[in-house]
Amino acid sequence: MIRILKNLDQVSSAAAEELVKSAVSAVEKRGVFRIALSGGSTPKTLFSNLVSDQEFKKQMPWQSTHFFWSDERTVPPDHADSNFRMAREAMFKHVEVSETQIHRIHAEEDPNHAAEEYEKEIRKHFNISAPQLPSFDLILLGMGPDGHTASLFPGTEALKEQKRLVVSNWVSKFNTHRITFTVPLINHAAAVMFLVCGEDKAATLKAVLEGPRDPEVYPSQLIKPDGDLIWFVDQAAGKLLELD
Ligand code: 6PG
Repeated sequence: MIRILKNLDQVSSAAAEELVKSAVSAVEKRGVFRIALSGGSTPKTLFSNLVSDQEFKKQMPWQSTHFFWSDERTVPPDHADSNFRMAREAMFKHVEVSETQIHRIHAEEDPNHAAEEYEKEIRKHFNISAPQLPSFDLILLGMGPDGHTASLFPGTEALKEQKRLVVSNWVSKFNTHRITFTVPLINHAAAVMFLVCGEDKAATLKAVLEGPRDPEVYPSQLIKPDGDLIWFVDQAAGKLLELD
């Protein structure tokens, strides 16, 4: 499903509404909601909405939610580029959530070790062993202008990973490693929500959604979850789409 909304604020509000509904439903069914947050700048408004909109803040089952990340930069948790830091500043600082509910990627450590440890933490939390795949209730994703999602960048090794849940991925364009969920883990989610805003993504979004399949160039095309897939797109990013 593709939902095109006027701007970032409307995208964030619609996504927040969907996220809260998903959380309430998961907690009603299983007593817990497990979400993987995306990084970058787009989700910041969504996180702020969840704590500044009194309706969302009241409805969100904060104490029954476990927060993970679908990727992280290889920086300390208080670094300006940290996805964890962005979520803490925009959301966690404003709600009662215990440390045991926040599963940070320790990306300041050796990248391979950090990826292995995070995979162990996910398996322990879901109480499943390899080769089983855990099913997150919801995975948030963004998309870069180059068609990457999480830290699955065009032409990188992580695109091929079919067994691991989490890997360290060398991203030559940034001359750095990133820690990222793998395609199998993301595609085993009950629901995936993309948030894509901005004119600089319009041509890539059209290629990803309406162009020929070329996942090495457009990794976001690899995301085809067993569950629901919703694209929240603003008019600027969606302006080239030919929606029937
Ligand atoms: C990250 C993200 C990444 C992000 C896209 C879009 O760590 O940067 O996980 O995949 O979602 O790059 O980023 P913006 O929302 O900032 O455009």
